[in-house]
Amino acid sequence: MNLEKINPNKIKGIILAGGLGTRLAPLTDNTNKHLLPVNNKPMITYPLETLIRSGIDEILIVTDKESAREFEKVLEPYQSIAMINFVYQPEPFGPAEALLHAKNFAQGYPVCVALGDNIMQYDLEDTVLKFKENPTGAVLFLKETQNPQAYGVAKFENDQLIEIIEKPQNPPSNSVVIGYYLYDSKIFDVCELLYHHNDSEFQITEVNNHYIENSNVTHYEYNGWWIDAGTPTGIEEATRLMNIPIEKSPTPPI
Ligand code: TTP
Repeated sequence: MNLEKINPNKIKGIILAGGLGTRLAPLTDNTNKHLLPVNNKPMITYPLETLIRSGIDEILIVTDKESAREFEKVLEPYQSIAMINFVYQPEPFGPAEALLHAKNFAQGYPVCVALGDNIMQYDLEDTVLKFKENPTGAVLFLKETQNPQAYGVAKFENDQLIEIIEKPQNPPSNSVVIGYYLYDSKIFDVCELLYHHNDSEFQITEVNNHYIENSNVTHYEYNGWWIDAGTPTGIEEATRLMNIPIEKSPTPPI
């Protein structure tokens, strides 16, 4: 690939929308989780709109082959505002394995990766703009939550982020990593380096820890609300938050 031809102001978007969706069974027995309704819109439309509003107009959806036709139908109205592509993850080997399938799409550009079941109140336009100026390392967004055990939890030493621990029984903090990440063009080398084919899913946390070990992570506290809509209570809570009148909403984002 001729790097000189790369547009320095471009960043591509990737939404990971494969997986099993067991926490939403039986609704997910025959339907991909990301097609389920949240406040009367398919779940996938929320991360898609967040990426588009963040200034990203070329987006790849990684999903299973069986659901792809449904996704294409549902996302048809968005094709006029963004270029939406699809690639299949043959087996649900984990979010970071899903990301590997986006390598050809990324073509050496930095990327903004979203978990398809994560919904954020505000877009990430300012951070994306800043990252475009110097796309090196990874950018993570952190949020304090009351049930950190369910997520990748940030561990700090002297205020420095030193590790993310995936779903720990004894969380070292209440600060968890939100499912939206910015990565430089080395992300696919990192995923290939760390990829494992064992019984456990290949997690994004493993990738993020690699960036942390190499002192290559910037992290921000996210001020808006954020929901993992991968559970029945997550969908309920997202619906509730979306219906709070604007004047009662939390303070603007970073
Ligand atoms: P998870 O919610 O951790 O996994 P899941 O979607 O299989 O759901 P459950 O735990 O209820 O069985 O995945 C986080 C996001 O990553 C989700 O939006 C889908 C995506 N993902 C993939 O794209 N491929 C995968 O193989 C997995 C496991 C998840």
